[in-house]
Amino acid sequence: MNRPAVNRPSSAAYAPIPAVERRLHWLIAIAILAMIPLGIAAEEMAKGPARELVFSCHKALGLMILILATWRLGVRLSEGFPHPVGRYSLIERVLAHAVHGLLLAVTVLAPLTGIARIIGRGQPLEVFGLTLLPAGPGNELALSLARSVHSGPVLVLGLGVLIALHVVGALKHHILDRDATLTRMLGRAPA
Ligand code: HEM
Ligand code: HEM
Repeated sequence: MNRPAVNRPSSAAYAPIPAVERRLHWLIAIAILAMIPLGIAAEEMAKGPARELVFSCHKALGLMILILATWRLGVRLSEGFPHPVGRYSLIERVLAHAVHGLLLAVTVLAPLTGIARIIGRGQPLEVFGLTLLPAGPGNELALSLARSVHSGPVLVLGLGVLIALHVVGALKHHILDRDATLTRMLGRAPA
């Protein structure tokens, strides 16, 4: 069904998002959503092989997110964000930019503070039995700083609020504005 676009994209404004950037977006998005339950489970489970497995998955996926998110941060710093497909109010543009910027920052800072939690404790950074960083002297200050950021309430609440605002924004564009914001990120050409 062809629905009329309220924020009709002008040909000058509509520029497709390159496939590599779209793949980065969805890969990081899915991985981030998996990290929260993995982190909480690692924190809650009793010591043993099952916890080690869950915790290794948490660390391995987190390190993958760090690499991909740093790559995307580099792309955004050099090329900026995708050009909006429609004309939006100033407040909407500022809010979207702020949420995108904070999401970019959290995807880099969350894994870094996770690594700092381990280094701060003086423990080795191990993933599936493979030592990536040896045990060190530890650091109380780094540990308490990292723990205050890389904790359930801060990460779950912070990420939860940002992702909720972001998804509501994407759905608003799709359902109310009827523009190509969401379909462009899904890689579909505009109707
Ligand atoms: C996007 C990436 C990440 C997210 C969203 C994330 C999220 C979380 C969450 C929600 C918790 C539970 C905290 C709590 O219940 O208080 C947690 C715990 C933890 N995470 Fe992460 N994490 C990420 C990456 C990493 C990485 C890369 C590492 C280390 C290599 C790491 C190490 C830890 C440690 C050490 C704990 C505490 C577990 C324990 O001591 O039992 N995290 N994480
Ligand atoms: C799961 C539901 C999600 C949906 C439906 C969604 C949808 C979208 C859409 C449509 C855009 C393009 C906005 C525009 O053109 O201005 C976008 C961009 C963006 N999204 Fe999401 N997203 C989701 C999850 C996430 C998650 C979990 C994160 C971060 C962890 C995230 C981070 C970003 C960022 C940083 C951008 C800016 C463009 C970029 O750098 O890739 N998104 N999202």
